[in-house]
Amino acid sequence: MIINGPNLNLLGTREPDTYGNKSFETYFSELQFKFQKTELSYFQSNIEGELINKLHEADKEFDGIVLNAAAYTHTSVGLGDAIKGIQTPVVEVHISNTHSREEFRHKSYIAPNAKGVILGFGLLGYDLAIQSFLNEI
Ligand code: DQA
Repeated sequence: MIINGPNLNLLGTREPDTYGNKSFETYFSELQFKFQKTELSYFQSNIEGELINKLHEADKEFDGIVLNAAAYTHTSVGLGDAIKGIQTPVVEVHISNTHSREEFRHKSYIAPNAKGVILGFGLLGYDLAIQSFLNEI
């Protein structure tokens, strides 16, 4: 299950120098083509509570969750608690290298409870996160 947070619905047109020119819908189709034997699901919301609800729903229904909580990464105790409260492992992904950006992006409420963190590899990070789960099955 891939869960994307706020403003990631604008991928393709949003700050292309940082996030690239591809929409997530286009990239998700490429992932589905590449991982044809794997059931992939994708959810995006700009609303914190909806992301928390989706984490609860996805728990136990999927073998793994790939989460880019976007700006909520740096602010949301609720999302951090949600990950702590579910069983399904979460890999945190960021398109950009958040550590090479503003100081406020260095803090993550997701990372302490994530299985792993992938950042700075562009959209490839989602692919790598899926591979990290498939390696274990
Ligand atoms: C992001 C990094 C966050 O700091 C930012 O707020 C985003 C996207 C990334 O994928 O690089 O919206 O999560």
